[in-house]
Amino acid sequence: MTVPSPPLLEVNDLYVQFPTPTGPVNAVAGVSFTVSAGETVAVVGESGSGKSVSSLALLGLLGSGKISSGSVLLRGDELVGAGREKLRRLRGAEIAMIFQNPMSSLDPLFTIGDQLIEALRVHRPMSRRAARARAVELLREVGLPDPERRVRAYPHELSGGQQQRVMVAIALTCEPALLIADEPTTALDVTVEAQILELLRTMQRDRGTALLLITHDMAVVAEMADRVVVMYAGQVVEHGLVEDVLRDPRNPYTKALIDSIPTPATPRDRPMPAIAGNVPTPAQAPPGCRFHPRCPSVFERCSVDAPRLYQLGETRASRCWLHETEPSGSVAETVEEVHRVG
Ligand SMILES: Nc1ncnc2c1ncn2[C@@H]1O[C@H](COP(=O)(O)OP(=O)(O)OP(=O)(O)O)[C@@H](O)[C@H]1O
Ligand SMILES: [Mg+2]
Repeated sequence: MTVPSPPLLEVNDLYVQFPTPTGPVNAVAGVSFTVSAGETVAVVGESGSGKSVSSLALLGLLGSGKISSGSVLLRGDELVGAGREKLRRLRGAEIAMIFQNPMSSLDPLFTIGDQLIEALRVHRPMSRRAARARAVELLREVGLPDPERRVRAYPHELSGGQQQRVMVAIALTCEPALLIADEPTTALDVTVEAQILELLRTMQRDRGTALLLITHDMAVVAEMADRVVVMYAGQVVEHGLVEDVLRDPRNPYTKALIDSIPTPATPRDRPMPAIAGNVPTPAQAPPGCRFHPRCPSVFERCSVDAPRLYQLGETRASRCWLHETEPSGSVAETVEEVHRVG
């Protein structure tokens, strides 16, 4: 019998806490998901749902925040509590991250060539000359026109889309097993967005890189991901295979997100249907289900008790009291969680 290998990344019941003037709050409260080798997993949710905090936590990049409990396993190896040096090494060798705004991660004082060369030589000892040649090659791979010349350009001399291509090239310097891309196309227009997404897809196909793609856009999820994790107010509210979730969303929040995707039939003069209201901040999370004040299916219990995440079949789970009375919900196992103050 073969023993199944653990997923590349396994996040279990992760809680992230930030100090605030009124006491610590949990920006992420019990998040679990996995990413297997070569897979694309999208994390989707509105602004403030905890997507960035969850991904920064994986790499120990939380600033004043900390992981208060939970576990992050990379090939079975625990990263929570790992030393700075170990995390720094992993960031170089196994996990790379692309941020939303390339200008905030590129250094304006150095040419993009210098930044690529620096990144290459941190991971692997090589001469400057070899690193420069490799930098040009990487810029060509990510589709930057005229890479021999552009390698000498400063970040401000490139367009937003070109800067984001450079970020992808820097991420590729370490041949990561996992690439985390936090809203990599939000700052770009739709044509450039499509090109960058295509670049990520090609990279993944050619290198087998696993991709954790953070987005607020269900259309990007549909186009890119194998599985999707839907987050709301610091919690996972639904996860499953993309085709299942898009075809038949089980959680009212997921339904509302999908309904907000414009279709060709959506009249242009009509404002995009958005979900009324806002995601609560962690300190203001309402009692009961965190989505209940905005939920079209709300009933009494929702404002009192917090629903658990119901396992609905092998690859699907949703956090909603509706599943308690649904035929599939009654046979569902529930994933128990400990409710912590926050
Ligand atoms: N340093 C911090 N101190 C206190 N609270 C924070 C801190 N960083 C994030 N938060 C809070 O954690 C919650 C989740 O933030 P996060 O940045 O993860 O949202 P997001 O889902 O990535 O949103 P967006 O789509 O806008 O990027 C927010 O309510 C935010 O205010
Ligand atoms: Mg974010």
